Amino acid sequence: MKTRIRANAIALILVTFLVSFFMACVPGNQERSGDSIKFQQYYAEGERLYKAYCSNCHQNDGTGLRRLYPPLVNSDFMTQNLNEVLCIIKYGRKGELWVNRIMYNQPMKGNPGLTELEVAEIATYIYNSWGNVHETIEVAEVASVLASCEDKE
Ligand code: HEC
Repeated sequence: MKTRIRANAIALILVTFLVSFFMACVPGNQERSGDSIKFQQYYAEGERLYKAYCSNCHQNDGTGLRRLYPPLVNSDFMTQNLNEVLCIIKYGRKGELWVNRIMYNQPMKGNPGLTELEVAEIATYIYNSWGNVHETIEVAEVASVLASCEDKE
């Protein structure tokens, strides 16, 4: 009987070990498990800010609005231009802009009142919602990118 219990315990330990091993191998998980509390805080605060500052145009589900407001879901522009996106959030943008082979050309106003932390939170939120997957976007990264934005209106 005792050996049975011990065997069960060993099996349980083995299974737990294997499961955590495989979880760590899933892409994206490793990065997040290291700083998951921070990630969750950024994400939650980013969601609140997104609803206040962005969802009017880009919508709660990030799909945008017809040819007026570009989508944040599956946006090739976002995938390829993280730095520019950080600049756009803070300083806005105007002129032609291509997302998934569709051209948009309406000015987006900046939000100069947002702090570096708030920009990092919003970016973490949009880069991890609606199927988008990315690691936490750090304040230090935002600070150095914002210092080099081209158009600071
Ligand atoms: C008044 C409507 C409006 C609001 C509010 C707004 N945007 Fe935009 N956004 C636009 C438009 C229009 C463009 C295209 C700009 C251009 O043509 O140069 C754009 C472009 C973008 C892009 C790059 C294109 C893409 O779809 O990948 C991102 C990312 C983005 N906005 C994120 C945000 C975030 C985050 C917020 C909130 C902080 C926000 N926007 C607030 C209208 C808006």
